[in-house]
Amino acid sequence: MRILGIETSCDETAVAVVERTRGQLFVRSSVITSQIALHRKTGGVVPEVAAREHVPAILPLLNVALKEARVSLRSIDCLAVTRGPGLLSALSVGVETARVLSWQSGLPLLGVNHIEGHLAANWLNRRVADIRFPVLGLVVSGGHTELISARRLGAWKLVGRTRDDAAGECFDKVAHVLGLSYPGGPEISKLAQGGDPTRFTFPRPMERAPSYDFSFSGLKTSVLYFLKQRRWVGRPPRAQLPHLAASFQAAVIDSLITKSLRATRDLRPATFLLAGGVAANTELRRLLRDVLAAQAPGVQYLEPALAYCTDNAAMIAAAAALHPTPARANWRRVHADPNWELV
Ligand code: KG4
Ligand code: ZN
Repeated sequence: MRILGIETSCDETAVAVVERTRGQLFVRSSVITSQIALHRKTGGVVPEVAAREHVPAILPLLNVALKEARVSLRSIDCLAVTRGPGLLSALSVGVETARVLSWQSGLPLLGVNHIEGHLAANWLNRRVADIRFPVLGLVVSGGHTELISARRLGAWKLVGRTRDDAAGECFDKVAHVLGLSYPGGPEISKLAQGGDPTRFTFPRPMERAPSYDFSFSGLKTSVLYFLKQRRWVGRPPRAQLPHLAASFQAAVIDSLITKSLRATRDLRPATFLLAGGVAANTELRRLLRDVLAAQAPGVQYLEPALAYCTDNAAMIAAAAALHPTPARANWRRVHADPNWELV
């Protein structure tokens, strides 16, 4: 089965072709045009600007994705599009494009939840049966920080979430006050490689709270006050920048790992999945893998390939490919499943 995925929930226009065959999901093509350069000027994403940029990008990208996969629309079995959560005006460009394609071609169209898509990135280029259930997932992106469990595919249950800012949002805002460019996550993680994570101490909010919830706005404010006191806002001394980046990053990673470990010990999943844009952070990947191996032995730890952590359409096609009733003949049953709505 071949699925064409479309993603336009934020500042990336993306189209991909994913094939499910012999019990495995293969990425046949995955193309992305990023608007990062444009949003750098405003220090963040302006929703209307993002939506307008998707419009001229999406159809050429669709052609490139089909061409790279060496297939035509006629040999696609199903269309999948991100239906939310995300920026409404940006989402509607992808949804309307997919609707027209579906109407013209007669292909079924599945609306995919963006968070579910991030988790599904873990199945790409892997054997479906290799991911054992129950599963616990940590989705860390620019808009979300959530711990999600599932006893079977599609039956996702939210077990913890951020009470305020998402981890990626915190990376972006702290990067801004450090005078770094948007998006802040990759900038901070690069700088942190040359810094000492113990040089400065920043808080780990809610670390002792018994829930699996997170909080990052206090950490962001604490970094801002720290910089204000030293008159370093927007321009800290060059020599201190790597230490500031490493110390801040350590606080975020500590919070993420503490709650992930607590949930893993309590819920005893067979597999732990990391996902979302912040999952591209190499230090988070390394520490989470090590901590789980040492303190939750027997739990299989998986992370997506770097290319499928930040927003992409292969993950959206993957979520559709994992649908319990993907065969076209069964498609109507999709309507009855509340987790899988047709657009
Ligand atoms: O999943 P994503 O592409 O978009 C959303 O669904 O939000 O995540 C984007 C977020 C941004 O906040 C970006 O700063 C962060 O992921 N990010 C990183 C890294 N790469 C991207 N954060 C930390 N370290 C990274 N290497
Ligand atoms: Zn995302």
